[in-house]
Amino acid sequence: MTGTGAEVSELKKVLGALDLVMLGLGAMIGTGIFVLTGIGAVAAGPALAISFILAASACALAALCYAEFASMIPVAGSAYTYSYATLGELIAWIVGWSLIAEYGLATAAVSVGWSGYFQALLAGFGLQLPAALSAAPGVDAAGTTTLFNLPAFVIMMVITAILALGIHESKRVNNLLVIIKLIVVILVIAVGGWYVKPENFEPYAPHGLSGIVSAAALVFFAFLGFDAVSSAAEEVRRPQRDLPIGLIGSLLICALLYALVATVATGIVPFQDFKGVDEPIALVFQRAGIDWLAGLVSLAAVSGMMTVILVMGYGLTRVVFAMSRDGLLPGWLSRIDQRQVPVASTWLLGTISALIAATIPLTTLAELINMGTLLAFTIISLSVPILRRTRPDLQRAFRVPLPWVLGPLSVVICLILMLNLAFETWFAFLIWLLVGLACYFGYSRHHARHENLY
Ligand code: ALA
Repeated sequence: MTGTGAEVSELKKVLGALDLVMLGLGAMIGTGIFVLTGIGAVAAGPALAISFILAASACALAALCYAEFASMIPVAGSAYTYSYATLGELIAWIVGWSLIAEYGLATAAVSVGWSGYFQALLAGFGLQLPAALSAAPGVDAAGTTTLFNLPAFVIMMVITAILALGIHESKRVNNLLVIIKLIVVILVIAVGGWYVKPENFEPYAPHGLSGIVSAAALVFFAFLGFDAVSSAAEEVRRPQRDLPIGLIGSLLICALLYALVATVATGIVPFQDFKGVDEPIALVFQRAGIDWLAGLVSLAAVSGMMTVILVMGYGLTRVVFAMSRDGLLPGWLSRIDQRQVPVASTWLLGTISALIAATIPLTTLAELINMGTLLAFTIISLSVPILRRTRPDLQRAFRVPLPWVLGPLSVVICLILMLNLAFETWFAFLIWLLVGLACYFGYSRHHARHENLY
């Protein structure tokens, strides 16, 4: 199938459809639902459920395109590999480089979110870290000087160690943690549903359509990560059948759960009360007087964020693996050990992410994650109709319906969301791209293996 060196480096095939759905849920349910729900509720009011559905629809179009590619080219590397096949090496490099920004920064950003929840849990037991080790260098709101985010660093290194143990172990840890957070999210809906006060749904959309759309742009983050499912392609037993199920299945489950959680949350707590709240779902149950559930929610948030870091970190190593195998990055990054893990790159990338998490305040940088993702979504959505025209002969186990309508529609939605990102984000992303292009023209172009993907 591939001439890009699959014969040199073989990854172990251990994943089935259910594992892929679990990977998708592992990557998605995290900061978005446990933290951003509060800010989203302030922007959209009870109509936040509609914002979640809107954001999910944008992702669903891209997910359909990913599914077609994944069922056609079941090779590690996700969008990077797909664009290599359709639009050539330079575009593939840009997509790969963007994915490195998406996954690398997402692991770091979620580690920082994890650190916040973890420290709140510690505080619940009356424990506190020395202020200097509680956050990246800076001065916090209370005027305390901070130097290093130790919990963020440690959790990133722990997850890296799990990834280095291999896909089998990573899958087991992921499945266990996903089950915990799923149970808690379902409890939130089932128990919380009884405490909803219909009068809190009046007015339903206090800031109209614009509030709903701006909340959708924000909670888009909650769906990031499903694309990491496709980076598992080479470790899937029946990729043509299972990848589309994993991609679309996990997205649908998340959309439903998020919309229901948003409805319960805004039905229990009046939406204005979420202003400035960092643990919105825990607050909902404190308000309802169900303290045991509030505590469980904090635990689920901590375990939920760990799987986000795990799956995003996994995606990062597999994209780098594929780029290195194609010669665009140094060859030692795709060398695998006896457990079939690209172990050197796993430790290198994990350590870099841990240092970023510990030392860089990520508030602005985090927007770069959306930018990298949206660029990859755009190129993939563009590639599906192109490849239908240029290679109609290729076997597609899954086909996007109406590709000439849905592909361009997906591109337009992604571009609208990109245009809504801050100017600084565009600027920072441009610098990241320029550095990437310098690497490409200085190194990768001369080392690429130039082999045909089919
Ligand atoms: N979707 C992931 C989260 O919400 C990135 O944490």
